[in-house]
Amino acid sequence: MKIDDEVLKKIKSAKTAFALTGAGSSAPSGIPTFRGSNGFWTDKTPFDVEEFNKNPQKVWEWHCEIREMIKKKAPNPSHFALANMQTVFRNFVVVTQNIDNLHQKAGSNRVIELHGNIYRNKCNDCGKIFGEINSKKIPECDKCGGLIRPDVVWFGEPLPYDALIKARAYAESSELCFVVGTSGVVQPAASIPLISKEKGAFVIEINREKTVLSEYVDYSIFGDAAVILPELYERLL
Ligand code: APR
Repeated sequence: MKIDDEVLKKIKSAKTAFALTGAGSSAPSGIPTFRGSNGFWTDKTPFDVEEFNKNPQKVWEWHCEIREMIKKKAPNPSHFALANMQTVFRNFVVVTQNIDNLHQKAGSNRVIELHGNIYRNKCNDCGKIFGEINSKKIPECDKCGGLIRPDVVWFGEPLPYDALIKARAYAESSELCFVVGTSGVVQPAASIPLISKEKGAFVIEINREKTVLSEYVDYSIFGDAAVILPELYERLL
């Protein structure tokens, strides 16, 4: 992996860092991305509230299918490299848009999930949180009888407040920000690296291709995150 000495020096001198990750960091695990050249999940995918209100059973079944697909996938070298970064920086957090739990599986123990987690569920009415539920039929809440849905953020829904506040806090206080495998088109997640930059952080994008964020970041490394991040970690030792 080619990286300017100046940039490597900057990374090595940082004490606090965070990574904002997107579907591209899980793509090497075999989980399709939403957009980009082999984007899989189209906008027709029932990832929204209207769809759920119209046909909750269908949306429940579809999310169970996704969860079962994701369950068969393993963390890839980019996940392990980010988990290892915890030993390189005094403070290292992963802020992820992904719902696949692969950062946690790879050993990252400080993960902020902006878009929820496919293994967690919640009552659509009272908000009670449930773990994984294996049920063909959409389950009902034992507290209020409401329908239970995946605890993931659908289009048009607000992000979990505490996750967003924590992510912003890291963005504002970290010296370094890695932006890994995201097209940078979905807000407010995509603005987190920009907040970081505004506050003086050095922002490095790792992506297969240029994105809308490329012109704003300080440095881009184009290629496969599953190759770049492990190599970068080795260079920091
Ligand atoms: N290494 C690095 N980058 C990669 C790799 C890889 N191996 N494979 C794909 N990419 C890049 C693509 O070039 C693209 O820029 O990952 C990005 C994936 O973009 P999206 O599919 O738009 O995923 P993401 O940015 O995470 O989407 C954000 O949109 O649909 C919603 O809630 C969903 O969390 C998701 C959000």
